[in-house]
Amino acid sequence: MEKNKAKSRIEYLRAFINKTNYEYYVLDSPTITDQEFDSYLRELENLEAEFPEFDSSTSPTKRVGGEVIDRFKKVKHKIPMLSLPDVFDATEIEDFNARILKEKILPIYVCEYKIDGLSVSLHYEKGELIFAATRGDGITGEDITHNVRTIKSVHLKINKPIDIEVRGEIFMPKKVLEEINDKRKIKGEPLLQNVRNAAAGSIRQLDSKIAAERKLDTWIYHLPNPEDYGIKTHEDSLNFMSELGFKVNKEANRVVTGIEEVQNYIEETSNIRATLPYEIDGIVIKVNSLESQKNLGFTSKYPKWAIAYKFPAEEVLTTLRDIVFTVGRTGRITPNAVLDPVIVMGSTVKRATLHNEDYVLMKDLKIGDVVSIRKAGDVIPEVVERKIERRTGAEEEFKMITQCPICDSVLEKKKDQVDYYCMNPSCPARKSEGLIHFCSRKAMNIDGLGIEIMEDFFNLGFIKKISDIYFLFQHRKDLIELEGYGNKSVDNLLAAIEDSKSNSLERLLFGLGISGIGDKTALLLVKIFKNMDNLMNATYDDFKTIKDIGPTLAENLYNYFHDVENISLIEELKKIGLNMNYLGENERHHDLISGKRFVLTGTLSFIDRDSLSGLLTSYGGVTSSSVSKKTDVVIVGENPGSKYEKARELNIEIWDEEKIKSIVDKL
Ligand code: IVH
Repeated sequence: MEKNKAKSRIEYLRAFINKTNYEYYVLDSPTITDQEFDSYLRELENLEAEFPEFDSSTSPTKRVGGEVIDRFKKVKHKIPMLSLPDVFDATEIEDFNARILKEKILPIYVCEYKIDGLSVSLHYEKGELIFAATRGDGITGEDITHNVRTIKSVHLKINKPIDIEVRGEIFMPKKVLEEINDKRKIKGEPLLQNVRNAAAGSIRQLDSKIAAERKLDTWIYHLPNPEDYGIKTHEDSLNFMSELGFKVNKEANRVVTGIEEVQNYIEETSNIRATLPYEIDGIVIKVNSLESQKNLGFTSKYPKWAIAYKFPAEEVLTTLRDIVFTVGRTGRITPNAVLDPVIVMGSTVKRATLHNEDYVLMKDLKIGDVVSIRKAGDVIPEVVERKIERRTGAEEEFKMITQCPICDSVLEKKKDQVDYYCMNPSCPARKSEGLIHFCSRKAMNIDGLGIEIMEDFFNLGFIKKISDIYFLFQHRKDLIELEGYGNKSVDNLLAAIEDSKSNSLERLLFGLGISGIGDKTALLLVKIFKNMDNLMNATYDDFKTIKDIGPTLAENLYNYFHDVENISLIEELKKIGLNMNYLGENERHHDLISGKRFVLTGTLSFIDRDSLSGLLTSYGGVTSSSVSKKTDVVIVGENPGSKYEKARELNIEIWDEEKIKSIVDKL
C-alpha cells in the first residue's frame, strides 16, 4: 500500500477500533461482532508492522500487553490521593449528616457504590494517556502505565485534546475471578482469595501480558481538579468525565437529599449487591457541592466531605450435618464440615474446613448444630460459631477418629502437634494426593492432570503410582471414550506428560513429595548436588552441613533416598527417560525468552516470522521491528538487513538460526 493511503487507513482504523472498544467496554453495547473486531485489529497490526514510521503509543494495538518493565517507578501525586473514613452503621451516618448540617451546608449528597478494587490515577496530556499510578501511601504511588494500557475501558486517547487527571477504581469482574479459580482448581493451584487481591496482584505484574489476560475493568469516580473546567458539583464532574468517554457508573450513582434518601439507597443497593457483576463492599456518600466540599476541608488523613459506609460481612445460618475426614499427601487428617447447602455472597457453600481436632473443640461444634458461615477472605468459607441457643439436645458430640478413614491404619499424633497423621505410605488417599502434588504447577507442571482428573484416573485404575503417569499413553483409546475427554484434550495431556520428562531436576525432587522439602529447598539442593545420583549417594552429614537444612530435613532426605521403594521408583523414572539433572539457569529455555525484547532480521528456514513472533510472545518475550538500545537479542536469519549491522554496532546479543532453533525445539 502506498504510504499516504496507509497513513489514512491506520488513522481510520484506530479511530474506528477506539469507538467500538468504547461501545463494548464502557457503554456495554457492542455494535460489531468479535470476529469483525479481530479482523480490523489484525489489519491495523499488519499496517503498523509494515509502516513503523506511523507508530503511536496510543494505538489500540498497544493494549494487548507485552510491555515488560524491570521495576515500578515511584510517582509523586500532585494532589494527595486520600482514602475515606469508614463507617459501619446508621448512627455513624447520622453523625456525618449532623456535622454537615452544623456547617450550614445543604445535605445534598451523591451516593455511589464503593467498588472493591484498587484506586488509580490516570493522567492525560493533550488527550493522550501519559501515565497511570497507584495510590501507594497517598503521597507517592507507583507507575503502572504498562498494565493500565491493557485495560479496555481505559482510553489511551480521549475525545478532547485536554490535560486532565481522573481517578477511579481498577477492579476484576466476579466472573473473571471465578474463571481463573476454576482453572486453578483443576490444576491444583491455590485459589485467588478475592477480587481485590486478584486485581491488585494483576496490576503489580512487571509483565503486562498477565494483566491483559486478567480482563480488568474500571469505574471512574473522582476529578481532582474540577475548578480547571469550571465545574461546580460532584455530579457535574461525573457527567463531565463520562462525556469525555470515561467509564462512570451512571446507573448506580444517585444524587439524594437528606439522610433518609441515603438510607434508602443503602437498602436498595444491599438488596441487589449479589446480582452485580462486580464486587462492592459499601457505599460512598459525598457532599455534592464542590464549594461546600472546599469549606469542609480535610483532616490529616481524610476529606471531611465524604464517608464510606461498609457493608457488614455476610453471615448465613445453616446446619452442620456431619464432620468428615480427609487425608492429605503427607497423611495429615483434616476434619471438614458437611453443611446444608447455603448461598453466601452469591455462591453455594456445602463444605468448610475445620482444620484440626483442637479447632473443632475450641468452637464447641456438635453434629446437628445450627452454625453461622462467613466467607473468610471472601472466597473460602468458614464456620464462625455454633448457635448455642438453637441446640435441641439431639446434637451429637464430635469425636476425633483414631484410624485412617481410607486404609484403617492407626493414626499418630506427634508430641506437641495438633495434627493426626496416617503413617501408611501405601494409603490410597495419600497416594492420590501425592500424585496430584507430583503433577502440580510448581512440581512437574503437567497441565491437564489436576485434582479432579487425577482422582478420576486414580479411581479408574489408570494411574495408581507416579510411574503410571508415563504409561498413560497406553490407555489413549479408553481415555478418548471417557465422558468429557476428546481426542484433542487427550493428546494435549499426553504431550504435556511427555514434555515433563525434560524438566529440570528441582521439579522432580519437589514432586516426589519428600516430607518438608518445598520447591525452594528442592532448588537449593539440586544447585548443590547437580544430579539425582549425587542426591541418592549423599550422607546424612552431606545434607546437614547445608545452610537452611536442619537435622529433621537431613534425616527425611537421607531416609527417603535409602528406602527400597523410593529407590526403585527413581530407577524406574530414569528408565522411562525423565531428566535427572539440574539444568541450570542458562538452560531454562523459557527464561531465555521471558522479559526480553527481540528483533528478527533475514529469513529462518525452520519457522516463519509470524509464528516465531507468536512463540516468543507466548513465552513472555517482546518483538519489535527496529533495533535500538532497548533491544536484547537480534535473531539473524539468511540475507539479513541493516538491522544486523545496527545490532553489531550497538553490541547487542545475536542469535543465529542454529541457536534459536535449539531453543525453540526445547520449548
Ligand atoms: S472517592 C477523596 N468513590 O475506596 C475521594 N472512592 O476508602 C477519594 N473507592 O481509596 C475516593 N469506590 O480506592 C471514592 N465511588 C468511590 C469509590 C472509592 C471505591 C475506594 C478508593 C478509596 C477507598 C476509600
